[in-house]
Amino acid sequence: MDKVGQMQQTIERLTSPGRGILAADESYPTITKRLADHNIESTEETRRFYRSLLANTPGIGEYVSGIIFFEETLGQKNDDGVRIPQACEQQDIVPGIKVDKGLTDLPGSPGDKITQGLDNLGDRLDGYLEQGALFTKWRNVYAISADTPSRQAIEANAEVLARYAAIVQSRGMVPIVEPEVLMDGSHSLERCAEVTEAAQSALFAALRRHQVILEAVILKPNMVLPGKDVQPRPSAEVCAQATLRVLRRTVPAAVPSINFLSGGQTCEEATANLNAMNQASVSKPWVLSFSYSRALQNPVQAAWAGDNANKAAAEQAFLKRARLNSLARQGQYRTELETTD
Ligand code: G3H
Repeated sequence: MDKVGQMQQTIERLTSPGRGILAADESYPTITKRLADHNIESTEETRRFYRSLLANTPGIGEYVSGIIFFEETLGQKNDDGVRIPQACEQQDIVPGIKVDKGLTDLPGSPGDKITQGLDNLGDRLDGYLEQGALFTKWRNVYAISADTPSRQAIEANAEVLARYAAIVQSRGMVPIVEPEVLMDGSHSLERCAEVTEAAQSALFAALRRHQVILEAVILKPNMVLPGKDVQPRPSAEVCAQATLRVLRRTVPAAVPSINFLSGGQTCEEATANLNAMNQASVSKPWVLSFSYSRALQNPVQAAWAGDNANKAAAEQAFLKRARLNSLARQGQYRTELETTD
């Protein structure tokens, strides 16, 4: 199969009905922090056990079409000695890989960051492909303050994200592009909308400039919300209306799927907001689904608590959260299901 055919096949699998993506790609410092929140030590073995639990949860393939891993996991095996990417394939889950190398300060633009990792990216991708990964993720961040993000930060980050996507497609892999406007702070929903629109407009201009095939890209954006210090939180309908307004202004219809990040929302908030978007009557030419990390994993980590005897309870917690998000992806979630499901 040629590279375009390979990408089309991966997109079809990732966007199949009722399913979404799990982000289980936390870097060493981030997974250490997440596990520490549940008094779990982060070691090579605890990470292996936990991430293979996610990939091997019986029945999870009904709700999860792809899992983004950190590179350590691609080389690890489950308890049956099967490499984790191959274990995913046994449940028709596409294995993916986070390929950026994290953030650094952007010189000339105080308070802004730029994402690193383009050097040798092509060579690294060849290795990830051999290990079974068929899609990739790269995350940019935009912090909101009175002075940030600057125009320079918006343009520089768009350029880097587009270069990444072009390199990934040259290997026949599907790039997820993630321009994340952070929730930290007390900014208004309107300010988040303004920054999200600017970041996404610059991104799609850059993707065109770099001749990225839009039909083989997945966008992973933030939802449009006020900063997390703002109370009360907006209703799911208000978030959906504001988010869809920005997406309709910026994302070409050629893009097959938009898979949101959760960004620090509670599990219930992330699910309800996705549901409201899928219920909205405004026209939306893309699949609207999830690519959550915290909003899918938090209950799983709480149920596991680092004790492998809790494996079945952790799997049940994962199945429940994934099922509710699958319903939200179809506009069929109801808050009562949180207690009755
Ligand atoms: O890059 C960010 C993650 O893939 C999504 O994480 O859902 O916890 O924001 P989150």
